[in-house]
Amino acid sequence: MKRDLLKLPDLTSEELNSVIDLAIDIKKSPDKYSEKLSGKTLLMIFAKPSLRTRVSFETGMTKLGGHAIYYDISTSPMGKGETIHDTANCASRYVDIISARLFDHEDIVDLAQNSRVPVINMLTNMTHPCQIVADLMAIKEKKGSFKGLKLAFMGDGNNNVTHSLIYGCAMVGIDITVASPEGEEYSPSKDVVKEAKKFAEKQGSKVVVTDDANEAAKDADILVTDTWMSYHHKPEQKAERVKMFSPYQVNAEKFALAKPDAIFMHCLPAYRGYEVTADVIDGPKSIVFDEAENRMWTEMAIMLFLMGKM
Ligand code: CP
Ligand code: NVA
Repeated sequence: MKRDLLKLPDLTSEELNSVIDLAIDIKKSPDKYSEKLSGKTLLMIFAKPSLRTRVSFETGMTKLGGHAIYYDISTSPMGKGETIHDTANCASRYVDIISARLFDHEDIVDLAQNSRVPVINMLTNMTHPCQIVADLMAIKEKKGSFKGLKLAFMGDGNNNVTHSLIYGCAMVGIDITVASPEGEEYSPSKDVVKEAKKFAEKQGSKVVVTDDANEAAKDADILVTDTWMSYHHKPEQKAERVKMFSPYQVNAEKFALAKPDAIFMHCLPAYRGYEVTADVIDGPKSIVFDEAENRMWTEMAIMLFLMGKM
């Protein structure tokens, strides 16, 4: 049975930890892995913009000895109305693995169901699993292990990065508190929280959702945020969202409540003066470029795992 990575619970906690450890080894000794995917092709389908995801996947595939095709949906029949079913059935007869950045999560499920080869979610409106594997690797590098850590996410709760972070923390046993405004539009999906809590229970950790940013920041080891205007939001939503999320900005006041050695994380792209102040993201506690770098090492590990080359 082929495996896909559409959301983090497609892996077990053990598999997630093994992928992170493999990524740490690839980063240490990349030459060991330079022929692992020789002769293999990755098709990368993009319906939204990207810097990090596109460049890290493409470079990662090259480093493993394989080849990657960048495929912009606006130039494809799928973007003109060809069904996902037909696209997946055809493309998966040419290539060995497919990754996709789409709008609706149901579309990537459809793609995976109709593909003969593994499918990786490079971001949907609902989840961004590859980002969080990279973030967990960065946390392990900076903090040594996941044990006893408290992570605080503040800002847009009903967000792909937030949902994947909730899953990821629960799966490795990090306590996570998400602070976001009340209301379905702004707070995490109840289904995600419910599913994550089952993992957290096994790990002996906590998943907390609150509207109090100070409660989240208090004694946190890691402060995380993401843009208030994701790729799928419309410009006319901006004024209302800025008003709603402003109390959740990560700034010096929030850091004053956290542990003295707390670090700052953000998947990027970031908008200084909105979800985070420039002094925080450009300051010594910020590890945003380590996160960005780890996208490549973890995606290499994810591809090796899904292609049975671990
Ligand atoms: N973090 C992230 O996914 O960045 P891109 O949108 O640039 O790929
Ligand atoms: N939540 C953001 C993440 C970007 C990597 C978005 O969907 O645009």
